[in-house]
Amino acid sequence: MNAKKVIVDCDPGIDDSLALMLALSMPEIEVVAITVVCGNVPVDKGAKNAKLILDWMGRTDIPVYIGEEKPLHRPYIDAMDTHGQDGLGESGYLPPEIQCEPLDAVSFLSETLRTQSDISVIALGPLTNFARLLEKDVQAFCNIQEFVSMGGSYRSHGNCSPVAEYNYWCDPDAAAAVYEAYASLPQLKDKKIHMVGLDVTRKIVLTPNILEYMQCVHPVWGERIKRITRFYYDFHWKQEGVIGCVINDPLAVAYFVHRSLCSGFDTYTAVETQGISYGQTLCDTYNIWNRIPNSHVLTQVDVKSFMHLFLCTVLKADPHQAEQVLCQILTKEALA
Ligand code: RIB
Ligand code: CA
Repeated sequence: MNAKKVIVDCDPGIDDSLALMLALSMPEIEVVAITVVCGNVPVDKGAKNAKLILDWMGRTDIPVYIGEEKPLHRPYIDAMDTHGQDGLGESGYLPPEIQCEPLDAVSFLSETLRTQSDISVIALGPLTNFARLLEKDVQAFCNIQEFVSMGGSYRSHGNCSPVAEYNYWCDPDAAAAVYEAYASLPQLKDKKIHMVGLDVTRKIVLTPNILEYMQCVHPVWGERIKRITRFYYDFHWKQEGVIGCVINDPLAVAYFVHRSLCSGFDTYTAVETQGISYGQTLCDTYNIWNRIPNSHVLTQVDVKSFMHLFLCTVLKADPHQAEQVLCQILTKEALA
């Protein structure tokens, strides 16, 4: 089977880094490029972290393009309180001395997508690069084969306000523009954004037991993942009373290949850009606004199957052993 071509747009970021490890390990995905956007960390730090992961994976052949340094209109607010000043949990890893591409990310997206319609996007950060692409080159944007975005929240509580998830809270105007494009542009009438929101990603918790198993299975990768997630653990305990850390982004990658990992529904989704609830995703479940569905919103996830995929793909765990261990260590809720 031919691998699916993908541009990963990200703001690495601890969970973005785990998502890149997964994307670069899956034979079903051909990562043609990485574009970086301001989000968890400023874009230059994000680019360095992307380069580090590529170096670890032996894939420094994959180009990294630097994107937007700030949101469309709102002041830029990073998430270094969660991801550390270096964006990798203050793990102390030094990025390789590898240059990013001279071309900016939006120009790269325009030039590449205008002539190729077999490339999909997995967006793991704020959607600023794609809102700028819409401004610059609508046809290139409409050529995106499939658009999977980690962001938003249907009925789960927010992580930046009671209702807003970080990626869409950081740049609500960009998210609103992208979602509205899928609701109004004739060229996109048969396409929808796959919204991988907190309803499903919150269930993906990297617990101490799973981390312990990772180190048993693959000491090198287990140690790296342990070091970059330690900082994240502390944040999750303080902020959400969770022992472990929610790794949002890798699920978007896994779902891109294995759609059966999650289930959801088609609906019209709008993103609030004003007032105290800015960044909130409003899913018109009962079609009150009578708009065409622009999104496929995910609501359920098979946690064990995701974890099994991640352990076997990134850590090279034995499938049978991983299955047994997960049955032993996952909570009853996760196994439900
Ligand atoms: O809200 C979680 C999302 O925001 C993740 O993509 C995380 O990396 C941050 O970008
Ligand atoms: Ca991210």
